[in-house]
Amino acid sequence: MAEFLIGDAKDCLRTIADGSIDFVLTSPPYDDLRNYEGFNFDFQEIAWQLHRVLKLGATIVWVVGDAVVNGSETLTSFKQALYFQEIGFNVHDTMIYQKNNFSNPSRNRYHQIFEYMFVLSKGKPKTFNPLKDRKNVYVGFSTLGVNTTRKQDGSFTKQRQRTIEEYGMRYNIWKGNTSGQENMCKHIDHPATFPLWLARDHMMSWTNEGDLVMDPFVGSGTTGVACAELNRDFIGIDIEPKYVALAKERYVRTRYLDTRLIV
Ligand SMILES: C[S@@+](CC[C@H](N)C(=O)[O-])C[C@H]1O[C@@H](n2cnc3c(N)ncnc32)[C@H](O)[C@@H]1O
Repeated sequence: MAEFLIGDAKDCLRTIADGSIDFVLTSPPYDDLRNYEGFNFDFQEIAWQLHRVLKLGATIVWVVGDAVVNGSETLTSFKQALYFQEIGFNVHDTMIYQKNNFSNPSRNRYHQIFEYMFVLSKGKPKTFNPLKDRKNVYVGFSTLGVNTTRKQDGSFTKQRQRTIEEYGMRYNIWKGNTSGQENMCKHIDHPATFPLWLARDHMMSWTNEGDLVMDPFVGSGTTGVACAELNRDFIGIDIEPKYVALAKERYVRTRYLDTRLIV
């Protein structure tokens, strides 16, 4: 099932039942980096609504960056993370999306190539399917000697010796192509999309088939495309009707025509 709502996220969220959503993946309109026809959003109200509509154990991945205003980064990203924490979310992890490219060259600092991906949870996350695609250098060897981890009281626990597998769990910095690099030969009519690989990888990590996923700032619908590919139910919201139409079109094409190459 998929549902697409046109309107302010704050209002649309009010129509969604308490404790009904398994996962939210979204990138809000941060600072004034892009002008979405002049729309702005009520962050605090939306944060509360998100807390209400999530199931216990559900997670949010909140993808954000900061603008530079009067020579200083705004740190809106961290202010938002702290607010989420204040109203009861766990800041489960602060992940980094490291881009293979930068959009605006910097003249007096290093080029900015990352965004934060705050993983927030309502209670303990109920789903974590770690992606294991980091090639281990010492594959096939057994761990040597006695491995220990230090406990809080300073004593050590011994760990079993084991054979190192070919692939280990990914780290929490994810590096990859931007949406622009991914879609060189296609045109997605939206100014700030995240790449499909990122949506897909989060979807696999934090949800299972049949879960209900929401993106309250759906834009071109990348989160919806990942849901269509991976059999997750989906609710997408955007204040701009033309983006909702685009998100719906991309979802339908992926779900029913199974033509991944054209999304
Ligand atoms: C960063 S973009 C999301 C892009 C999306 N992740 C993608 O891959 O296409 C943010 C979106 O939020 C929408 N938006 C801005 N203010 C909003 C509001 N108050 N309620 C709902 N949507 C809003 C904008 O129209 C824009 O499409």
